[in-house]
Amino acid sequence: MTAPASGRFITLEGGEGAGKSTQVLRLKKWLGSRGHEVVATREPGGAPGAELVRKLLVEGPAERWDGVTEALLHFAARRDHLRSTVWPALKRGAWVISDRFADSTMAYQGYGHGADRTMLGGLYDMAVGEFRPDLTLILDLPVETGLARAAARRGTETRYENLPVAFHERVRAGFLDIAAVDPERCVVIDASRDIDAIEAAIAEAVTSRLDT
Ligand code: TMP
Repeated sequence: MTAPASGRFITLEGGEGAGKSTQVLRLKKWLGSRGHEVVATREPGGAPGAELVRKLLVEGPAERWDGVTEALLHFAARRDHLRSTVWPALKRGAWVISDRFADSTMAYQGYGHGADRTMLGGLYDMAVGEFRPDLTLILDLPVETGLARAAARRGTETRYENLPVAFHERVRAGFLDIAAVDPERCVVIDASRDIDAIEAAIAEAVTSRLDT
């Protein structure tokens, strides 16, 4: 079940409006300029089946699913994403950058919705196995700033943004907890700065942690 990776798997995590998508594209360009094949992808989604599940998760009323149901859907999408996109790319030596991965499930469904975190760890083992990101960049910024940014580009994917501020505060604290517990893998990036400063901090983290 585990992909013997020869490429590198980098994940970007954070709350709403942290600027992950912009930074994924910039990091892709930067790593590409260093001669790597780079695949930029996202969760939920990143493969045809997983994108179908994404629609169920990000659209509709906030109370549509409880935390456990959401976690099951996210892990179903994640397994499809890994098998269809991430693992094949890593096997051929590409660097894969994912806009969100399993830390989002721990932060949103675990810390945010209160789903049992041991249960989430069990789902991870079942759906993902021993595979882990080589590096996780956690883009951190105040909740109100992030939600305001997210509202400015609001489309149909508003389900999570509509949850109360207190939920998003728990998500933020969850990401910081995850980083504190796993400092080998995680780097917290101050995402309240301008786009270029965030890009530079990310490049610095990638250079110091991985052999680019
Ligand atoms: P995005 O806005 O970064 O594309 O992510 C879509 C939403 O999905 C976002 O509000 C966070 C949420 N999400 C979870 O709740 N759990 C997860 O495991 C993932 C990957 C995303």
